Amino acid sequence: MRFSSLSKFFPGLLVCIILLASCAAGAPADEVTNEAVTNAVPEETTSEETAPEETAPEETTTTYILPPPVTDGGMSVEYALENRRSQRSFQDKALSPEQISQILWAAYGITESGRGLRTAPSAGALYPLEIYAVIGNVDGVTPGVYKYIADGHKLALQREGDVRDELSGAAFNQSMVREAPASVFFSAVFSRTTERYGERGRHFIYIEVGHAAQNVYLQAEALGLGTCAIGTVTDDAKDIIGLPAEEDPLYLMPFGYFK
Ligand SMILES: Cc1cc2nc3c(=O)[nH]c(=O)nc-3n(C[C@H](O)[C@H](O)[C@H](O)COP(=O)(O)O)c2cc1C
Repeated sequence: MRFSSLSKFFPGLLVCIILLASCAAGAPADEVTNEAVTNAVPEETTSEETAPEETAPEETTTTYILPPPVTDGGMSVEYALENRRSQRSFQDKALSPEQISQILWAAYGITESGRGLRTAPSAGALYPLEIYAVIGNVDGVTPGVYKYIADGHKLALQREGDVRDELSGAAFNQSMVREAPASVFFSAVFSRTTERYGERGRHFIYIEVGHAAQNVYLQAEALGLGTCAIGTVTDDAKDIIGLPAEEDPLYLMPFGYFK
């Protein structure tokens, strides 16, 4: 299988390991391909809706292409809205790459490739958020911090190793961060929006992360998983995640099978 065949990374190699089963490139399952990580923003953008630059971490190019998201799941949005609850206690049960793919796509995936528009609305389509996957227990994926590259629906290794304990410390030791097999971490490049909208742009960003987080809540519900929004994230998270200087931490959402 495409992820299980990548049970180990090869740190330091400037190589992208791409596992494709049914993604757009059409390579057969189990095919391992080298690919330069280009994070080109779709060129076809309007002045009103300009997709931002999106960059993979420079120090690593180890990349997973995620399985394509499913867009016709079986649960109605109404059912998900009615049943969604914050869950704070998780089973020690591995998630699949498909579940990770679905959650990240729901958070900030691209749904209109021409203009780079996404699952969550964004003022001026500037997309100031950056999304990270904190992986602890996912089938075939080495624990670590990965940046979600929406263009191409990829994960780029940012930092290898299980950081869930450390990250829990940056969330006032809330044990769900330690327990959950994975978390979505949201940060933002505030200048991306304030350059156009001034101080009002700061408000926009806080609103926008709420949109993306609600998508994660509903998607988790539709997958039979649970999550909880955590707003109490200290600046210690910057080092743990390895955020570039221009990014500020915003929100953390551990997810998994709940107890
Ligand atoms: C901005 C924000 C920050 C939150 N931070 C935390 C948190 O740090 N820890 C926690 O357990 N829940 C946190 N929550 C979840 C709320 O406690 C939860 O949404 C509320 O109790 C209502 O429950 P429900 O989500 O199940 O409807 C946060 C929610 C929001 C919107």
